[in-house]
Amino acid sequence: MKLSALQAGFNLDHIALESPSPNELSKFYKKFIMMEHVKKKNKEIICEGQNRKVILIKGKKNKLSYAGFSCRNKKNLEQFKNFIISNNVPFSKFINNHLEKGAFSIIDPDRNIISFGIRKKTKIVFKNKFCLPLQHLTFASRDVERFEHFYCEMLGFKTTDRVIHKNRSLATSFLTSNHEHHTIACFKSNKIGIDHYSYEVSQWENIKILCDYFSQQNIKIIWGPGRHGPGNNLFIFIEDLDKNWLEFSAELEIIHDRKVNEWPQSEKTLNLWGKGILRS
Ligand SMILES: [Fe+2]
Repeated sequence: MKLSALQAGFNLDHIALESPSPNELSKFYKKFIMMEHVKKKNKEIICEGQNRKVILIKGKKNKLSYAGFSCRNKKNLEQFKNFIISNNVPFSKFINNHLEKGAFSIIDPDRNIISFGIRKKTKIVFKNKFCLPLQHLTFASRDVERFEHFYCEMLGFKTTDRVIHKNRSLATSFLTSNHEHHTIACFKSNKIGIDHYSYEVSQWENIKILCDYFSQQNIKIIWGPGRHGPGNNLFIFIEDLDKNWLEFSAELEIIHDRKVNEWPQSEKTLNLWGKGILRS
């Protein structure tokens, strides 16, 4: 039996970023993103909080090393593997130790490494219970059509919204692997790799709490508060020490079966309330 990524139900479990100064960056994540547990293992610095894990590795600034998605059980994982094998998806030799045994990794058309598996159980008891789980990962690509085709047709993510240039080419594609509006997205850009990633804080009140918290810590909000058109989520963005974009989002649309919405590439699509940051 085969299951698409949507049918298997995947959540973003962790992301691994390269950095010229992973030690310094881990201090930022510990202090400001409330990653209570930071440890070095092999060549990685693993930063963890309740339902969030960011791994830092010595390397190039703003480069995604890999990302991991987890589903609820082994059966779903195996049936998803059958789905992608039947689509001849290229596997990577990369072994992801942050997922249970049986995980596997693929390489997408932009050479991003994405792992799929079962979430690893942790014995860590986190004291800080502020709800801040990792939620989505967005990419930058020169070819959003190819990206969408790969994730939708080959992996079985579901396209929820598209942002279209005047010449009908794709500016952005939003896709999901669960009930949330998007777990990945891709922006047309001259860059290839990560655009930003997000933490879902569930409600507006928590965006307000975070704005006050970041202000007290002298961390500038670089975009927002605003509301995205696609996904209808409230958002703020900050930058980490490497100028990676971190989004904190709330009220992201929950998807029940609906058709794909199309949006024009405009400031208002990116931010219904005001200034938009257009990537292309
Ligand atoms: Fe986002």
